[in-house]
Amino acid sequence: MSRTAKHPHVQSHSAPFQSAPADGGADLYVSPAEAIAREAGMLLMDFFRRRVKIEYKGDADLVTEADRSSEALIRKRIKEKWPAHDILGEEDGLVDTGSEYRWYVDPLDGTTNFAHGYPVFCISMALEHRGERVAGVVYDPTRDEMFTAAKGAGARLNGEVMKISQTKTLAEALVATGFPSHKRHKNPNIHFYHQITLKTHGVRRAGSAALDLCCVASGRFDGFWEFNLNPWDTAAGVLIVEEAGGSVTDFSGGPFNIDSRQTVASNGLIHDALLHEFKEIFAGRGLEKLPDPRQYPEK
Ligand code: IPD
Ligand code: CA
Ligand code: CA
Repeated sequence: MSRTAKHPHVQSHSAPFQSAPADGGADLYVSPAEAIAREAGMLLMDFFRRRVKIEYKGDADLVTEADRSSEALIRKRIKEKWPAHDILGEEDGLVDTGSEYRWYVDPLDGTTNFAHGYPVFCISMALEHRGERVAGVVYDPTRDEMFTAAKGAGARLNGEVMKISQTKTLAEALVATGFPSHKRHKNPNIHFYHQITLKTHGVRRAGSAALDLCCVASGRFDGFWEFNLNPWDTAAGVLIVEEAGGSVTDFSGGPFNIDSRQTVASNGLIHDALLHEFKEIFAGRGLEKLPDPRQYPEK
């Protein structure tokens, strides 16, 4: 089991005072993080070409040697560059030394895709300073796309300024969601998938939450939601969406909280409409009934 702030095998030491620059350190943190993510991307592509053995953390929760190797590399590089920073990674958890700086690392977001040879996956790295996200990098090595953001300095895709979409209504929107790989039968998202599919141009389920968030930031998607994501899935993507001009909240429209397990991101313009649909679905109001498959007409 991963060690997280909530399930800590924590060692605490005090850390010397450190301060972050006002723009989150676009050069100080984003550029070196890009280099680390690129190196991890090369490593993942090497494993991807060779195909890797699938192992299981749960009945449908996959992990591979690529996840572990990528995390080991990223941890090593972060420690070389910033020895006093803490790291919370999906595979190896957190050793909390009390640093004001914490990296959130998903060394391979989209493991199921990766393990099946479906080329939609990425590396996600974000830096938090005193609880505030200040830098984020998501790298898709299959398309060589580097999504980055520094607090107050905007978001970029391969160095070009990135902006959210201008879609104004849910009816014209393309949105995305995801489904967790554990406690699957406890998850109500299939209802949301059904209802929101009927109210939009469509709902995509590509299998990498970090890339889904970056697709909102780059205007490819107008919105995204998911239940039960972990901090390493969202930390970078949320900052990237916000810095591209979008909104991220919980399902009630309250501030996004990295531990809350409720993520709704959008271009801002369709946010209220999306939240309204959520409220209606949670209340069981106005639901379109699922057609009975036994009554599927053959012609
Ligand atoms: C998963 C992906 C997927 C999302 C799952 C995540 P992983 O991360 O982001 O899109 O639907 O909830 O667990 O396990 O591939 O790092
Ligand atoms: Ca993930
Ligand atoms: Ca992962």
